[in-house]
Amino acid sequence: MSIQEEILKLKKEKNALILAHYYEEGEIQDIADATGDSLFLAQQGQKSDADVILLAGVVFMAESVKILSPDKIVLAPDLNAGCSLVDHSPYDDYLKWRQAHPDGIAMTYINCSAEVKSISDVICTSSNSEKIVEQIPKDRPILFGPDRNLGRYLSKKLNRDMILWPGMCEVHVLFSARKLFELKEEHPDAVVIAHPECIEEVLEYADVIGSTSKLLNEVKTNPAKKFIVATEDGILHQMKKARPDAELIQAPAEGTCACNQCPYMKLNTLEKIKNALETLEPQIHLKPELIEKAKTPLHRMMDITEGRGVDWPERFTI
Ligand code: 13P
Ligand code: SF4
Repeated sequence: MSIQEEILKLKKEKNALILAHYYEEGEIQDIADATGDSLFLAQQGQKSDADVILLAGVVFMAESVKILSPDKIVLAPDLNAGCSLVDHSPYDDYLKWRQAHPDGIAMTYINCSAEVKSISDVICTSSNSEKIVEQIPKDRPILFGPDRNLGRYLSKKLNRDMILWPGMCEVHVLFSARKLFELKEEHPDAVVIAHPECIEEVLEYADVIGSTSKLLNEVKTNPAKKFIVATEDGILHQMKKARPDAELIQAPAEGTCACNQCPYMKLNTLEKIKNALETLEPQIHLKPELIEKAKTPLHRMMDITEGRGVDWPERFTI
């Protein structure tokens, strides 16, 4: 049996669902039941009636599934699959910042720890962030973190002041505006698509800015034959499948490194997925009190995303 067949067999035996983020290796995306952006994966996890959910992505994504479905076994093939935004927003510092602005609404990017979620008012992903800002009462200050680039982009686009936390994605900030400019000169017919975690100077050259699913959708629906892609290279797998006729050029980083690969996403392998399904380890374990607190802002996010109204707390209290 091939490793893919073994995984599919184990998946049936354990009544498991495999969800993969677009930044995973192609062979992982191909054995998954569903691939998607971070919002889609959280929604699929919440809807599923599987007993076990294996999240091939990074740990904050698996934690979000656990918070939304605490009775399920949630597996993360490698618990070291972190995220620089999680590292840049340690709980104690974030709490101090939150406490310094008690009348603000803390709108927090899903790329953060469960602890940081527990002191936030609403969570967002890059695909629903504009909708969420629009639902926050205009007289309430917005504290946005931990991704400063996404926050700055939203603040500018929606003309809304925000107090920004200084975190960033170590992968997306390495795309070079200077080299992108040169590449655009070389390929004036290319459509530039970029994730909002890129720096402002890179976003200025982009024709389309959005979540991984928005960027993929652009490649699927735009008749252009050439795209310059400023996001992690795992997404190219689905883009190539959707548009074998199009030329996909990766946006360059400064230097010669393979910087457009997320080292955390790439920790997952088929071998680790097979082992996780066999042993039901490593599992995501979160304390029930933490789940209880962290689920409120995630539910607000889902409510706004799905068109339901929400109430906002008057002041931050812990
Ligand atoms: P998406 O929500 O667009 O999938 O992005 C997640 C992420 O980690 C980007 O670096
Ligand atoms: Fe985090 Fe950046 Fe990796 Fe996304 S690409 S998981 S934001 S380090």
